[in-house]
Amino acid sequence: MTDIQLGMPQLPAPDYPADVRARLEADGKQIVARYPDSRSALLPLLHLVQAEEGFVSRTGMAFCADLLELTTAEVTAVATFYSMYRRKPSGDYQVGVCTNTLCAVMGGDAIFDELKEHLGVGNNETTDDGKVTLEHIECNAACDFAPVVMVNWEFFDNQTPESAKRLVDDLRAGRQVEPTRGAPLCTYKETARILAGFPDERPGAVAATGGAGPASLAGLRLARGETPGARVVHPRGEGPQDRPQPGSRHLSSHDAPQQTSASDPEHPAGPVNEEGE
Ligand code: FES
Repeated sequence: MTDIQLGMPQLPAPDYPADVRARLEADGKQIVARYPDSRSALLPLLHLVQAEEGFVSRTGMAFCADLLELTTAEVTAVATFYSMYRRKPSGDYQVGVCTNTLCAVMGGDAIFDELKEHLGVGNNETTDDGKVTLEHIECNAACDFAPVVMVNWEFFDNQTPESAKRLVDDLRAGRQVEPTRGAPLCTYKETARILAGFPDERPGAVAATGGAGPASLAGLRLARGETPGARVVHPRGEGPQDRPQPGSRHLSSHDAPQQTSASDPEHPAGPVNEEGE
């Protein structure tokens, strides 16, 4: 039974070693200086302490409270509200399987179940080698590439149970994996530092931009006054979004083979006219 359950006061969180504290303070002050009101810096500061330990510890929360002159209760309320802050040590790679409605029906539930069995862990648990933390995640606004798996918040599109198992095997073996789009993959701690607002200085990281599909960009084109292209629904695996675009990054070797993800090959979707018929 914990001290909290017994109603006993918790001991103060231990502080960071002096050298770590000095480094975090210097970084933390840079973050705070970006905002007119210091308490606005809490979210990136929580990413900063997550970058140090791989999760937001009591020490990290006390550090944030101290720097921002908040109570630890205020910091804890924020840190426990957002799912991007982990409350216990996690693996180098956080593998999130989207199990929201669209991804779930397109195979996300099956991927999550098979990964649990393959890795021998449950939701929010880490493999014994400390490499992979598995969790189910909510919609990541990539429904046009469902089912989607995220590794440290980088996209791996159009997955199958087989491609997802290959992906985690490669991560655990230390083999290089390449997201379908976006920046190159880095570790969970490195990702947290980038989310704290420090530049990603790896070669090629800035040049790597997202590769949103045509459906995702339709609203943006309309807002810019551009004429959106004719709305065409392709059978899965045959759309232009499935092929590398000039100047875009190629599909990841960890994408599922497109022909295996056709949900209903006997009734493929055809071109859709302006009336949507
Ligand atoms: S439902 Fe999975 S990305 Fe939207």
